[in-house]
Amino acid sequence: MKIFLDTADIEEIRTVARWGVLDGVTTNPTLFAKTSGRSYEDVLKEICGITSGPVSAEVVAEDVDGMLTEGRAFAKLAPNIVVKVPMSEEGLEAMSRFAEEGIKTNCTLIFTANQGLLAAKAGASLLSPFVGRLDDINQDGMIVVRELAEIVAIHELESEVLAASIRNPVHMTQAALAGAHIATIPFKVLQQMVHHPLTDKGIVQFRSDWDKARQALAAKAEGTKTPA
Ligand code: E4P
Repeated sequence: MKIFLDTADIEEIRTVARWGVLDGVTTNPTLFAKTSGRSYEDVLKEICGITSGPVSAEVVAEDVDGMLTEGRAFAKLAPNIVVKVPMSEEGLEAMSRFAEEGIKTNCTLIFTANQGLLAAKAGASLLSPFVGRLDDINQDGMIVVRELAEIVAIHELESEVLAASIRNPVHMTQAALAGAHIATIPFKVLQQMVHHPLTDKGIVQFRSDWDKARQALAAKAEGTKTPA
């Protein structure tokens, strides 16, 4: 299963790349708005220099021509750019046109398996069902991930299911078990996946016991020295 980082924060991306677990990055206008003082294009170019995995850049236009113009410009920034297009009638048309042009797309804002199926048929490389936002309105978001992963497998579709709007480590495990090919997660959730209180406590305990053992050895060596 691939792990993408759901952020436009360069330091977070560099950190996870160093950990050796970064397969790609997803950004959106909200995540970009949290970065300051630089253009979206500059931020995207820098991210593409850190990872060779897919980097999603989201269009904001709502009409087909606008989506195509924005997406084509993103695609010129780096070979690993994937154009993120929202699920809509215009979005389907734009994704279909991008597919004809060889530009990869990530269909975003998917909330039903049927929306995902349509996006796959329109040629989207990545299908992004939003788990957390469905959970927020008292629906089980993981059902969409599971259904979509099954549909992709049964019909041997070429698209990959990218579990998005992941809010906690339990979502991550559930997405992996539901058959998602990829999950995109915030840096904080990735940190939560790394840590466990017993792991952290065990590291401190081992270090403390090691130090005690070395001190005992040093004291013993000191005590056996022959006086001059
Ligand atoms: C990623 O592609 C999505 O834009 C992101 O996961 C949405 O997450 P949110 O629902 O926590 O904003």
